[in-house]
Amino acid sequence: MLKPHPLRNGRKLKLGVFSANADGGLAITDVPERWRAGWDDNLTAAQIADRAGLEFFLPIARWRGFGGKNRVREWSFETFTWAAGLAAATEQIGLFMTVHVPLVHPLYAAKALATVDHISRGRAGLNIVCGWNPKEFGMFGVPLVEKGYDQASEWIEIIEKVYGSDEPIDHEGTYYHLKQAVSRPASLQTPRPVTMNAAFGGPGRDFAARSCDYLFTTFTDINDAGNAIDDIGRRAAAVGREVGVYTVCHVVCRETQKEADEYYRRYALELADHAAVDDHMAGKKEFSGSHDPAAYERYRQRFAGGAGTYPLIGTPEKIASEMAAISARGYQGIALSFVNYTQELPFFCDRVLPLLAQAGLR
Ligand SMILES: Cc1cc2nc3c(=O)[nH]c(=O)nc-3n(C[C@H](O)[C@H](O)[C@H](O)COP(=O)(O)O)c2cc1C
Repeated sequence: MLKPHPLRNGRKLKLGVFSANADGGLAITDVPERWRAGWDDNLTAAQIADRAGLEFFLPIARWRGFGGKNRVREWSFETFTWAAGLAAATEQIGLFMTVHVPLVHPLYAAKALATVDHISRGRAGLNIVCGWNPKEFGMFGVPLVEKGYDQASEWIEIIEKVYGSDEPIDHEGTYYHLKQAVSRPASLQTPRPVTMNAAFGGPGRDFAARSCDYLFTTFTDINDAGNAIDDIGRRAAAVGREVGVYTVCHVVCRETQKEADEYYRRYALELADHAAVDDHMAGKKEFSGSHDPAAYERYRQRFAGGAGTYPLIGTPEKIASEMAAISARGYQGIALSFVNYTQELPFFCDRVLPLLAQAGLR
């Protein structure tokens, strides 16, 4: 019998690791221990997370970097093949693939995703992104699509259709025209592996509400973090569905607050890769609606620290209590990034996970 996907376990707050497949992780820094994202390090980080009982390992989809001293993110592993490798070397953790709808044909995605679902025995997950970076899409000669989420709806519909049919199917849509399409094997999970949509704005939320199990999104201020939950709840209810919401944070967890603050200042201010931070922020600001506009001015340190995500900086106790606050706002899960995943995950798992268990969250 197939075990339920880890995202469907009974824990109130799910935890995972984000962006270990890419240079820097989410950070944009020049500290010597910065994340190089080599395969051995990816494997070690995934196995630490797997043994600690985290629910998921989630990659970023990135095709080019942001320049600067280290050409941060230029090095990144492709996410289907990365997940396949990790699937064979882990036991229980959910393995996501992050896929740009306009760059990957749905029949290719269906087959690759099913392959990982078989290798992992039902632990595959699909994180759907529509993308935002015109330079990245330019590499493929593909324009950024205006109505990306309309295309995404058709894309996921095709994956579900081919998994669900033993007979070849024709599909005559707006974006895809398929004749006698088959994709075998189907995924082990039915009707398809768990899906997330990584998005911030209204159209992305509507797509998640219609077609995905989870929305993966950011917030800037913890006091307003519940607004996204209410909003997606309304959008999902309007189509008779429920959608869980996950978010993402960058973490510096240390024995004392002073140590954590000092390290955050060192890697994300003093030794930030400033030219790359400028490039990343300028591109995101112009082309991506993934953050509140005020975030760019107010939170430069957060962009160097973790690509504009919310910071969790402090002692295990402080981080556990902030995670409890995020959970109390209605988030079902948090994806985490660290400057150096293999060096920092063990302390985080040893010290924060028991506190979350005591709080009834895990
Ligand atoms: C939590 C989160 C994770 C994302 N991950 C990626 C990614 O891995 N690759 C990518 O190109 N875009 C990523 N995006 C950007 C989205 O694809 C999208 O372009 C962006 O959020 C702006 O559009 P929206 O308003 O529809 O969200 C991410 C966005 C969010 C909120």
